[in-house]
Amino acid sequence: MPYNEPDATDPMTLHGAVVETDDANVQREMATCFIEEYMRMGYGRDRVLSMFKIQDYIGPYMAYRELGEAAIIELIDHQAAIWGGRRESGVTGRDADGNVTPRAEISKPQTEMETDKAMSSPSCGHYAEGGAPTTILMDEHRVIEHVLTAMERMVVNGVVDAVFLGKAVDFVRNFADGCHHAKEEDILFPVLEEAGIPREGGPIACMLDEHIQGRNLIAAISENMKSAAAGDEPARVVVFKAVRAYVGLLEQHIEKEDSILFAMADRVLDTGQQASMLEKFNQVEHGENLKRHEHYVALADELLNWKFTR
Ligand SMILES: [Fe+2]
Ligand SMILES: [Fe+2]
Repeated sequence: MPYNEPDATDPMTLHGAVVETDDANVQREMATCFIEEYMRMGYGRDRVLSMFKIQDYIGPYMAYRELGEAAIIELIDHQAAIWGGRRESGVTGRDADGNVTPRAEISKPQTEMETDKAMSSPSCGHYAEGGAPTTILMDEHRVIEHVLTAMERMVVNGVVDAVFLGKAVDFVRNFADGCHHAKEEDILFPVLEEAGIPREGGPIACMLDEHIQGRNLIAAISENMKSAAAGDEPARVVVFKAVRAYVGLLEQHIEKEDSILFAMADRVLDTGQQASMLEKFNQVEHGENLKRHEHYVALADELLNWKFTR
């Protein structure tokens, strides 16, 4: 367990070893294994690439540093062609001229600066005319995934960082829940009901139940994080368990929405219903709300790059 000393008598204790190699083929193989493992779990291209940039993942980071980003993107694209992976959103934001930037551009070789810009969280507070509402929600999923990656990394590091968790709880309550889940619950789900998808006993009920589970886990993290950071062992266990459970819950929740519920919405909603939803999204995200939205997109980047110290 990452939050206790390893038990030498436990056959399930994980052991890790650093493999130093300058053989590019070995690094390519190692990178491929890593990519395949996470793609089979349903991670998208962007999230896998973002993990290569985190120094805590020693092997992938070494491969990223030695092989270069273009080679890693090529390996990711190859594995994505094999395993498919989740449906990627089509929009990452807007360029300097206000044009929508397609996600596919991430696959092109880029300079380090350009790539860092592309790998920052998508800006999703104002929406292109004619874009599908589900594309906007999927862009928000990509932002949320950055925070999930950061929370997972805190557990891997075996630390309870109350400052980090305070910001993560703020993000989840105000962006993941306050902005994103509110759009789903107040705008998307009612439109789906109108289109004949029943609220009870189907995917909508399942999604609503998981939103509640997520709120309960975040409450547990919030209530225990200060005591845990101060060294209270039972509180540490509660926090680690709740963070792991929350990350696992949201990962599979997002996967279900991206690949099942949103695909269903795209099929059953006509262009008029989709335009009406976009209009409602824009009404929610304007003025101070838009500024707040952009603040939380930036916060997701800050958390993704958070340095944990033991
Ligand atoms: Fe949801
Ligand atoms: Fe969602």
